[in-house]
Amino acid sequence: MNKPRRIYLDNAATSWPKPESVYSAVESYMRENGAPSGRGVYREAIEVSRLVADARFRIADLINAGEPRRIIFTLNGTDSLNLAIHGLLRPGNHVITSVVEHNSVLRPLRHLEDRGEISVTRVPCGSEGIIDPDAVRAALRPSTRLITLIHASNVTGAIQPVFEVGRIAREADVFFLVDAAQSLGHLPIDVQAIQCDLLAAPGHKGLLGPLGTGVLYVGPRAELVLESCRQGGTGSKSDEDRQPLILPDRYEAGNLNIPGIVGVGAGVTWLQSHDVSTIQRQSSELTIQLINGLSSIEGVQVLGPKDSHQRVGLVSMTLNGWAPQEVSMLLESEHSIQTRPGLHCAPLMHHALGTANQGGALRLSIGPFNTLNDVNVAITAISEVSAMRLEF
Ligand SMILES: Cc1ncc(COP(=O)(O)O)c(C=O)c1O
Repeated sequence: MNKPRRIYLDNAATSWPKPESVYSAVESYMRENGAPSGRGVYREAIEVSRLVADARFRIADLINAGEPRRIIFTLNGTDSLNLAIHGLLRPGNHVITSVVEHNSVLRPLRHLEDRGEISVTRVPCGSEGIIDPDAVRAALRPSTRLITLIHASNVTGAIQPVFEVGRIAREADVFFLVDAAQSLGHLPIDVQAIQCDLLAAPGHKGLLGPLGTGVLYVGPRAELVLESCRQGGTGSKSDEDRQPLILPDRYEAGNLNIPGIVGVGAGVTWLQSHDVSTIQRQSSELTIQLINGLSSIEGVQVLGPKDSHQRVGLVSMTLNGWAPQEVSMLLESEHSIQTRPGLHCAPLMHHALGTANQGGALRLSIGPFNTLNDVNVAITAISEVSAMRLEF
């Protein structure tokens, strides 16, 4: 029997499929070039340095970074966040964050807190998973050095008030770090309008590059004080045994993941030619259809904002009488629909939503290649699962 077509609804974990141009850019680099960047003077080495510079330029342009050197290539979103947090914080500092965050922010902060180096305030969220900027303002202390906030939740999809928090951070002369893992490539982003000092994101989600890629934007205020977390060869200032202070070299020790970066560059080129606002609109239409369809199924609760303008294209839900893991396995085995059950590395978010003790939720997340048919097939399949238990 033929297996049904794979319906991939786990784009919040990593995007798939990638644009054809991403596959061909990675393959052509690996087959025909293969040189390291910033280190040689032969033809391929010069060509690959140009490819890396082009990827950096495009990402800087996408987020209005001002200068390409402000874009640092990292291993993944977690690596970008670790560099921002460990590079910025000093003993005695206070940090404001939220219960909406992913473990890639919560754990580095908890690590420093457990060592007695910093103190942390985690502001709560409302029932739809959105924080109140006034709670951030109220949490400010003289020792506050950093406010770190997720842009869009990887559990509810809820878009957080980053513009308001950016204003609060600037007024208080506090650094502002944005985790854009679920927003970059899905929403238009302007780091200067947000007034963030640091913006971290994977290259393998909304930017459509391969796994093992990440980016960190380092703004003018953060540049002066952000320490490097790793030191090593950069191909620049090789006569010195101190890490160069120039960007991006200061934070890019060792050979870069060139196949990955070339893929991210091709992904961003694809995004720019398709326009992020158009991608956002298409994703929003599918999200509305998904929320409406799921909400009409008996026993389903959809988490997060009802208003589609307040969310990105991912929808988490619970189904009465079913563990999210059971539903996810059935969707895969019976319908080849691929989703993500569980706590989504966001334990405080699930506690806040009351879903932590029931195995979390089932997440369906949309990418630019999903269709209305994918969404409708998922809705029908979940209503069949719901009916199964009703029959018992
Ligand atoms: C909100 C959020 N932040 C950070 C990350 C970490 O990104 P990466 O998996 O690239 O380390 C993720 C990935 O799931 C995420 O959803």
